[in-house]
Amino acid sequence: MDVLVVDHPLAQSRLTVMRDAETDSGAFRAALHELTTMVVYEAARTFAVEQFPITTPVAPTEGTRLANPPLIVPVLRAGLGMSDAALALLPESSMGFVGLARDEATYEPRAYMESLPGDLSGLPVLVLDPMLATGGSLVHCCQLLVDRGCTDVIICCVLAAPEGIERLRDSGLPLRLVTASIDEGLNEKMYIVPGLGDAGDRQFGGM
Ligand code: URA
Repeated sequence: MDVLVVDHPLAQSRLTVMRDAETDSGAFRAALHELTTMVVYEAARTFAVEQFPITTPVAPTEGTRLANPPLIVPVLRAGLGMSDAALALLPESSMGFVGLARDEATYEPRAYMESLPGDLSGLPVLVLDPMLATGGSLVHCCQLLVDRGCTDVIICCVLAAPEGIERLRDSGLPLRLVTASIDEGLNEKMYIVPGLGDAGDRQFGGM
């Protein structure tokens, strides 16, 4: 599995704003929006393009456009804060949604919402989830996509734990990962350390 860390100075400064416990939810959402722009920009570097004829005010020439714009899939709830920035960079894209909850009995992730096209063959999918912690819910989400025929899943996150990266690797699914940082690891409550806390609560407040 390819892993790309976006270590650009601007990405790291936005990530610092998000890590800081003093940052309020408005500033946190703004930093997440800006950081998502940078992470998705890097993720798009490998996207296929096609040439087509255009005419400038001066002369005919060749233009470039994405050959196969990806489906964007934010994972609810924390991925919602990344969706506007991704769609602004990829206005040709469509959006699907996956909502995941933990099953009370088995503790396994369970999809409570799958708003996705039935057939994803030939379509790259950009999954948005700020936190790759254990990787359990992201593997579950990506399996839903692969079950619909997707063969190219690009996960965009903000922080990744090494444990989560291993879990994604072990899944054998056709995944790529773009993240702004690989942190030290998980604590006993499965929070990323040093991390930034609960990405959903930091954006939207606790429930
Ligand atoms: N999800 C979060 O929001 N934060 C973590 O640290 C781990 C998972």
